[in-house]
Amino acid sequence: MLHMKLRNDRIDPGTQPATELIFGEWYPAMRSEGLRRGKTTTLLLLGVPLLVGRKNDGGIFAMRDLCPHRGIPLSAGWFDGETVQCKYHGWRFEPCGGQCVEIPSLTQIDTLEPTKIYAGAYPCREVDGYAWVYLPEAGSGRITDETVLPPVPEVPKFSGKYRSAHLQADLPCNVDHGIIGLMDPAHGPFVHRAWWWRSAASIHEKTKHFEPIPDGFRMASHAPSKNSAPYKLLGVYGSDVTTTIDFVLPNRRYEVIRAGEKWFASLTTVTPITPSTCRIDVMACWNIFYSVPLVPMIASYFGAKFVQQDQETMVEQAEGLRFRPAMMLIDDADKPAKWYFALKQRRLTGKGEHPLSGPVDLHWRS
Ligand code: FES
Ligand SMILES: [Fe+2]
Repeated sequence: MLHMKLRNDRIDPGTQPATELIFGEWYPAMRSEGLRRGKTTTLLLLGVPLLVGRKNDGGIFAMRDLCPHRGIPLSAGWFDGETVQCKYHGWRFEPCGGQCVEIPSLTQIDTLEPTKIYAGAYPCREVDGYAWVYLPEAGSGRITDETVLPPVPEVPKFSGKYRSAHLQADLPCNVDHGIIGLMDPAHGPFVHRAWWWRSAASIHEKTKHFEPIPDGFRMASHAPSKNSAPYKLLGVYGSDVTTTIDFVLPNRRYEVIRAGEKWFASLTTVTPITPSTCRIDVMACWNIFYSVPLVPMIASYFGAKFVQQDQETMVEQAEGLRFRPAMMLIDDADKPAKWYFALKQRRLTGKGEHPLSGPVDLHWRS
């Protein structure tokens, strides 16, 4: 398994326009492999300060990093592998459910029952090497039954044996710009200009088929492999190749390429760190070239290069966004971005129709 992280610190995130965020969803908080037993770390997810850790039994947890007593970060205190203890007055909490198990100042004559007090704690699961955290809507109360939650997103897999790679990049802009940058078809020949990929002169007209899916849309294509040179390189010559790219709210892009027994699948998410910044995570699994060790390394290099080009462009874009310019979305190249904004609005307001009433073809040059 390969992992890469692309950092940037050129832009002060405080200067960026904020956007409204979608709660009531699972988000990848961090890579979970770095979380050792008995250790914790802190991070921001959708602007919520989290204390994430791993208990002695191997289970991971995500608490709101604020003591319910007087608001000091719980991360200022201690974790013994079982309970989190606040530094200020020593209240002790079970970290998975957040239940208070001890208030040291209480005497025999006090009637306060510590176990009726809860610190914020969020459902937290380990999938595809990530700690996924479910952040509920504000005011929706403590989650007592996790079986009612949606399933944790994961990379689709089509065989028992596969390889995987991960890539992360911090983006200084809000999640909307991260997501529409991800689905934007027209930037390829310019941003991803490179000898091994394509040149601006290679622009040509394309027609892509889209259809609605719940909370998102799908781009599906089917190509006989004899016509598609890149797939020959992937070693799938001889089988027809089907490619499906789904976008699903709040932030997920699933790509699945299948050719006979061979497959490549990825899940790319753009996760809000704060209302004005985000992070892109690419999780990929495949059994193509399974037996050739060098190929995953080369594939990751090109994947990293690709994401780095997007990241650099968004860092530059963020310099402009500080001045709050007006935006334009044009047909048809920006149509998926329009659908995203419509789907998001529909989710936030609980009103409106799916922006795609049925299958539709989009045309653009890229
Ligand atoms: S502030 Fe945490 S125990 Fe008092
Ligand atoms: Fe890109």
